This record gives sequence, structure tokens and C-alpha cells, in this order.
Amino acid sequence: MGRLDNKVAVITGAASGIGRGTAIRFAVEGASVVIADLNEEGGAASVRECRENGGTAIFQKTDVAAEGDIKALVARAVQEFGKLDIIYNNAGLVGATGSIEATSVEDWDRTFAVLTRGVFLGMKHAVPEMRKSGGGSIISTASVAGLSGGYGTHAYSGAKAAVVNITRSVALEVAKHKIRVNCICPGGINTPIFNIVSSDPDQIEQMLALCPLKRSGHPEDIANMALFLASDESEWITGQAISVDGGLTAGRTALFENPEQERVFGNRYLGPSFTTGRS
Ligand SMILES: NC(=O)c1ccc[n+]([C@@H]2O[C@H](COP(=O)([O-])OP(=O)(O)OC[C@H]3O[C@@H](n4cnc5c(N)ncnc54)[C@H](O)[C@@H]3O)[C@@H](O)[C@H]2O)c1
Repeated sequence: MGRLDNKVAVITGAASGIGRGTAIRFAVEGASVVIADLNEEGGAASVRECRENGGTAIFQKTDVAAEGDIKALVARAVQEFGKLDIIYNNAGLVGATGSIEATSVEDWDRTFAVLTRGVFLGMKHAVPEMRKSGGGSIISTASVAGLSGGYGTHAYSGAKAAVVNITRSVALEVAKHKIRVNCICPGGINTPIFNIVSSDPDQIEQMLALCPLKRSGHPEDIANMALFLASDESEWITGQAISVDGGLTAGRTALFENPEQERVFGNRYLGPSFTTGRS
């Protein structure tokens, strides 16, 4: 028996990376999956992989920033599979980068259109169908970048922080319909989104492994959390932003790993300051 048997799921940004990994995981666990993306070739490959793993999946070309596309996406899920239980608003990109003074209004708005409007539209059009089904699970991909400041990606950080709080406020509204709303804050996950950083996979791996658990994240790490949030196992969890980040946001790693910190905070008991020397 699969953990998502008889459930219908829509996943945006599922032609690649985290979305593709999650689509395969959901399909293997018994869900009928609608893969939505701008990228048709990648979408077809995701459908193929779901089917090769014994699952059910179809592709719907979708721009998450366009309301008509999201309406059509939800309608397709209901038309093909009869209902909607799960939507995972995951599509994304890096968007505007660089200094705040050089960022154009157009690039700022384009970034928010995908990362924030896309999530809003996914929620808006999924809720009426989930009410008909007697409940559902809405999941979105935020980011650790939405929990603290980042360098050179102001629009991205702002948009992901918005996803965290939209998640909380919509969760409050729709809880009475047994619709749960949560988001996942991934740390560094090794996906094609980092193609822009380097063409050297080792360099990307090294950069992403800078976290307490000392490896990059894999799409499966996020897929496992999304599966839990999509399934009935998480039926008492809503309005949460859950980090899946190899410990990145647990604390100040750089300080902890500094040998000087080891010397000061080695294995001993530190009593009142007047007993430790200088008063
Ligand atoms: N990889 C990471 O380290 C990381 C960390 C935190 C958050 N995230 C977020 O995870 C999500 C997935 O990213 P990923 O790492 O798998 O990257 P990815 O590039 O592999 O996948 C993103 C997918 O979104 C699709 N997409 C982009 N704009 C779209 C649009 N307007 N409409 C429909 N589809 C669109 C792309 O075509 C692509 O298939 C994104 O929201 C990203 O911001 C990623």
C-alpha cells in the first residue's frame, strides 16, 4: 500500500530538480500526479520516469505566473483524475541578482511574479477543489533564503519570505475546511538551478556541502518531506515553514567549527563569571 494511494497531486516546477524528484516519489507512493512546468521536454522526461517507476503521471504546460494557466492546470487534474488532494507550489528560479541600486523594477516584479504570485495562484485555485474533496494539503517551496538575509539575491529572499508568511495566513483561513498549508525551506539542494554558478559539478557540490551535515541536499531529501506533508501522517500540522537544510539554519556553523571556540567551550562546566578569573 502506498502512502498516497487514491490521492491526486499537482506539482509545479516538476520538469526538473526538486519538483521532478517529488513527482517520482509521489507517483511511486500511489498518487496520480500532474506535472506542471514551462519546460515541455523536461516535463515529458518526468512523466516518463514516473511511469517507468510504475506510477501515473501526465504533463500540463504551465506558467505559474499566469492565472489562466493555473486555472487550466487545476481543471486538468480534476478532469483527468476526478479531484484534487495535493498541490505542491514549487516552480522557481533565481530571478533578479546584484546590488539593490542596480536592480530594475522589471526584474524585481518578474521574480515576484513567479515566486510569490505563482504560490498565491496555486493556493487560490486549489482551495475550491479541496473544499469539494473534504480537505487537502497545500505545500510550497520557500527557502532558507526566506528566513534570513542573503547576498545579492534581494528579490529572491523577499519573495521566499513572503511565501513563508502567506503559508501561515492562508493556513489560518482554510483550516476549517481540513485544508493544511505548509512550506518547505530547503538549504542547498544540488539541482540544475545552480547551473549558473558553475559548470563544474565538484565546485557546486563543495559549495552546497557547507552545512553541519557536510553534503549537498538531494531532491529526494525535499521529496521525503513533501511526501510526509502531503500524506495523512501530517494531518495535525499546518501553517509551518519546515527547514530541510543539513542543519544550515541551526546556528552559526562558522563559529562552532572554529578551533578557538573549541578551546573556550571545550568539555567543562562554566560557573558564575566571578569564579572564572577577572571580576
Ligand atoms: N536548489 C536549491 O538549493 C533550492 C534551495 C531553496 C529553494 N529552492 C526552490 O526550490 C524550487 C525548485 O528549484 P530547483 O532547485 O528544483 O530548480 P530547477 O531549476 O531544477 O527546477 C525549477 C523548475 O521550475 C520551473 N519554472 C521556472 N519558472 C516557471 C514558471 N514561470 N512556470 C512554471 N515553471 C517554472 C523550471 O522550468 C524548472 O523546471 C524553486 O522554488 C527554488 O527557488 C531551491
